[in-house]
Amino acid sequence: MKISVKVPATTANLGPGFDCLGMALPIYNTITIEETVLPGTGVEINVLNDDSTNDDLLMEHIPMDENSIIYKAVELLYNSIGQTPSELKITVQSQIPIAKGLGSSASVIVGGLIAANELLGHPADEVALLSIATEVEGHPDNVTPAIVGGLVLTSLEDDGRVVYRKLEWPEEWSITVCVPDYELLTDISRSVLPKEVAREDAVFNAKRLAMFVQAVNTKDDELMRLALQDRLHQPYRMKLVPGLDSIIENLKHEENVLGCVLSGAGPSIVIISKKNDIEKIKTIVKNTWEAQNVKVNIMTLPIEKNGAQIINHE
Ligand code: HSE
Repeated sequence: MKISVKVPATTANLGPGFDCLGMALPIYNTITIEETVLPGTGVEINVLNDDSTNDDLLMEHIPMDENSIIYKAVELLYNSIGQTPSELKITVQSQIPIAKGLGSSASVIVGGLIAANELLGHPADEVALLSIATEVEGHPDNVTPAIVGGLVLTSLEDDGRVVYRKLEWPEEWSITVCVPDYELLTDISRSVLPKEVAREDAVFNAKRLAMFVQAVNTKDDELMRLALQDRLHQPYRMKLVPGLDSIIENLKHEENVLGCVLSGAGPSIVIISKKNDIEKIKTIVKNTWEAQNVKVNIMTLPIEKNGAQIINHE
């Protein structure tokens, strides 16, 4: 049997929603799991670029053996029904850039899990898939939208369950994703975060997250402008994302811009704006980053309403 799953990229946090807000975007990885016929061949994992050549950067950051996050996810699923994975060939066809804050690791975890679940005859329901994916990833804000699509508010509860609700993204607002030409690993980006924060900062974010949900539900530009701020992670990550402070500064007076936030752990940034003047916004970002010798790929994307989809089953 051979199963292929297409999984969207994701942008997490969206400013105030550290580890609990995430959104699916229309860039995809395809994960294929194939049963191999030769007994004792174990699990083989390959990562390929769009043009089907091996991706060196991916190979460097995603171990291709039992330490691989895909292997861990698949193994947890097999273990949950008392089995161990073997005789499997796993291939990742990669379009989501790695180490850019766009959920590439979440996508391979989710794709591996959903393909393996199909192969095994669906032992895991959505709740179980969310729990396993979150256990491997460490936080639910990328894996949840990768599984269910759309914009989600998601929480890992103490008992290991992931509870989420979808929010309806207003069509009036654009999402512009700016991907710089340097990488930042999530582990490094999380290592600079303090274990404890001041009460004022916790209250600041609690207010912003509540504003975010209300602003999205009522399409309130003014509230969204206040909501898209953060004191729990972005200030600490600024030094890892050269150019972010200047971009925020240079966009401050653009009246169509509602906010400029780090995408997940960075280094990509996401600009939420009204639909006018997108080209001007792109030019400002491009010029600001280029002045610091950073090349940038800028895409205005719709939200991806669908989560991971099985695209081939043979
Ligand atoms: N919420 C996570 C973080 C997303 O900010 O570290 C990273 O993928």
